[in-house]
Amino acid sequence: MPTDDLGRPEPRLVRAARALAEESGFAHSSSATTGRLLATLSGAASGTVGESGTGCGFGTAWLRHGLRDGSRLVTVEWDSDRAKAVAGMFDGDAAVTVLTGDWTAITEHAPFALLFLDGGGKRDGVDRVADLIAPGGVVVMDDFTPADRWPPHFQGEPDGLRIAWLTDPRFTAVELMTSPTESVIVATRR
Ligand SMILES: C[S@@+](CC[C@H](N)C(=O)[O-])C[C@H]1O[C@@H](n2cnc3c(N)ncnc32)[C@H](O)[C@@H]1O
Repeated sequence: MPTDDLGRPEPRLVRAARALAEESGFAHSSSATTGRLLATLSGAASGTVGESGTGCGFGTAWLRHGLRDGSRLVTVEWDSDRAKAVAGMFDGDAAVTVLTGDWTAITEHAPFALLFLDGGGKRDGVDRVADLIAPGGVVVMDDFTPADRWPPHFQGEPDGLRIAWLTDPRFTAVELMTSPTESVIVATRR
């Protein structure tokens, strides 16, 4: 198996997604630790796993790496070139569907056992997402700046989005640091 820049084993499709991002100058792929978290959570999800914002397929590849037999993965990207390239990576894999369009296209595939909100939906608030998640299902959002106090702040102001997700009574949620500069929210639907 190939390795990442720390020498950790990295699945072939993850490596392919990394290469696609490098070739196309796409600088917004998820971090390596977020990817490994996605694979881990995907391995605990039975049913439909979703991703908004496919990008170059880095998160998709990690979600697929963890995916259980019998589960399926649906990802959506509004940039048609990126969506087409990632669809090619998963060509012949019946468990993976890559949609082209606005993130709301994946709502047709609800309820989700796991939903990674990474391009569309993340800033739309809890109400827009809550009913898309199966009981016990999990929502993941990355790219937050780690909070060292409550309430979490962003650019000097209380971060309403994070506060909403971390306090909503429909979810049990936690903010986890994936590096000194990045945190993710993991929220489980009650
Ligand atoms: C942060 S990148 C995604 C990274 C990818 N999920 C990963 O794990 O490497 C965000 C992507 O979402 C796409 N995007 C942004 N808003 C969107 C929307 N409303 N609907 C569909 N795609 C969207 C962008 O074009 C971009 O490719």
